[in-house]
Order: sequence, then structure tokens, then C-alpha cells
Amino acid sequence: MFLLAHISDPHLGPLPPVRPAEILNKRFFGYLSWQRRRRNVHSPAVLAALAEDLAAQEADHLVITGDLTNIALAEEFTQVGAWLHGLGPADAVSVIPGNHDAYVAVPWEASLAHWQAFMTSETEADGAASPPAGPEDFPFLRFRGPLAILGLSSAQPTPLFCAYGTLGEAQLDRLRRLLRELGEEGWFRVVLLHHPPSLEGIAWRKRLVDAAAFRRVIAEEGAELVLHGHDHTFGEDRIAAAAGPVPVFGVPSASAARESRKKPLAHYQTYAVARDGGGWSVQVTARGFDPARGGFHEVRTDRLAMSGGPESHLPEDKGSRPAGSSGPA
Ligand SMILES: [Fe+2]
Ligand SMILES: [Fe+2]
Repeated sequence: MFLLAHISDPHLGPLPPVRPAEILNKRFFGYLSWQRRRRNVHSPAVLAALAEDLAAQEADHLVITGDLTNIALAEEFTQVGAWLHGLGPADAVSVIPGNHDAYVAVPWEASLAHWQAFMTSETEADGAASPPAGPEDFPFLRFRGPLAILGLSSAQPTPLFCAYGTLGEAQLDRLRRLLRELGEEGWFRVVLLHHPPSLEGIAWRKRLVDAAAFRRVIAEEGAELVLHGHDHTFGEDRIAAAAGPVPVFGVPSASAARESRKKPLAHYQTYAVARDGGGWSVQVTARGFDPARGGFHEVRTDRLAMSGGPESHLPEDKGSRPAGSSGPA
């Protein structure tokens, strides 16, 4: 059994001191929103309780689906980098950016470069690490146990009061190719993106612009799990694919100390993945923050109905790639 933990939208606080020149742009309104409301929602104390609970769950891998910062200040990227290293070694944690991590355009070196150890791909030839050098290097691909984790970026700077995202044709083409290869090899394909891949129930200004194109790729190539954030609430959806419906999950913000604008308190999910005959069994468990106890506890657990899927072409105990990986088991 492989245990995957999924958190999203930690929106790490407190906000570092800002210089006027840094907020003479869209950041100004994000700064006001932080001071007026968001700093009372996104709590470092909840994140500390979360880190404790994650350690107790002993997950094999943790994925974080974006919005780690608030207004994409250079100092926030450094702050988040240190926080990530505190959560676990870079090979045990995978991170993708969200729209807040691209609140305004920030050079790669001053922004996501600080997290690149958590977005490093393994090349299929020799298992060597290949850190991203820019936005064009998404999706990244990491092999963990039976999982092939594909991290997409829908983060892009947007106009004032907008929070939409785009994957773009080049990323979707790479995703299609990788899903096909990995599916043929029998990996449990986990796709990460920040924005919910749906146009229903999402404000136009917050949408994934190419949601329909993304759904088409998943429908045609299949995947075992799609995970997202952005909406700060639970999301559950299915994308119909040839081999059966692909489950899509969103989780609330990992740091919410109180309900705000009808969004729930902090929660996260774990997915216990095991081989089941020719297919997979997945147990989904939600854990939520309890302010009275100051900690997280299990709120529900369900066995996910998974379609059979193609049988693995790899031996049960030994994978073919990357070198050093145990392969799907
Ligand atoms: Fe967010
Ligand atoms: Fe977001």
C-alpha cells in the first residue's frame, strides 16, 4: 500500500514586510485583502498542527496543489522554501504553483526557483534528476512507488480581480504523450493542477481557461487520479474516460483557522493506493482541523470505486524505469 497525502492553498503567513515599490501594482489589492480578512483566516498555527498530523500519518509522499504564497513577494518564495524543507525531504514532497504564486510576473530565479527541488523530474533514461528551469518545463514527472506524479502549472499573472489559469497547448501535448506512455506501462497516474478542471460552479474570473481541452486529454488517455485546489473547498468530480471514470478531488485550504465566505476550515486528504487484481484499490480519507482540540482528526473515509484499467506490463516487484525506482507494485 502506498499512502499519498494531498494539501492545497496553504497561503503561508504572516506576510513579510513590504516596500511601497513592491505593491505599486496588483499586489496592492492583495495586500489590503490580506490585512483586512485573509490574515485572520490563514493561520501559521493551523499549518503547525497540520505538519504534526502529516508526520503522524506517515504518508509515503505529500503533494501540494498551489497557492503557497499570497501576493508572490520575493520574500514569500524564500519563506515558503524554508517551510517546504521543514515538511520533509524534497523527494518526499511535490509542489505545483497556483495563481497566487504568479500574482504578478516575478522572474523565475526570484520565485519558483526556490522550490525547484520539489518539482524535479526524473528522466526516464537513467532516473537522473532534472530540475525545472522555467515555466516551459511543466509538467514535471516523478516516480514514487506505483505512482507516476505529473505536476502541471496553470499559474499565470492575470489582470486585477482575476484569478484564472491556463495550461496551454504545449503542456497539454506533453501531458497527453506522458499519460499514454505511463498508462501502457501500468503506472498509477496522478495528475496535479491548481485550478479545478471544470467550468461548472466556478466564477468565470477564477476558471481554468482550457478546462475543456484538459478534460479531453484525460478522457482520451485516462489517469487514475486528478488532484487540485484553488476553490478552498472540497471538490469531487469524475471525467469519463475509455477505461472508466477518472476521479477528480479538490481540498480546502490547509491553513484555514475559521470558515470564511462559506469556505470550510482546514482539511486535507490521503489516498491509500494498492494493487487490486488487474486494477487499483483506493481508500480516500479526509482529515480536518478541530479548533477546540487545536489539531486534525479523521472526518470520513471511503473506498473509491476504481475501474479495472489495463493490467500492468511491468513485473510486480521490479519496475523498468527510472533506474532505482521500485516501479509499479
Ligand atoms: Fe488559494
Ligand atoms: Fe488559487
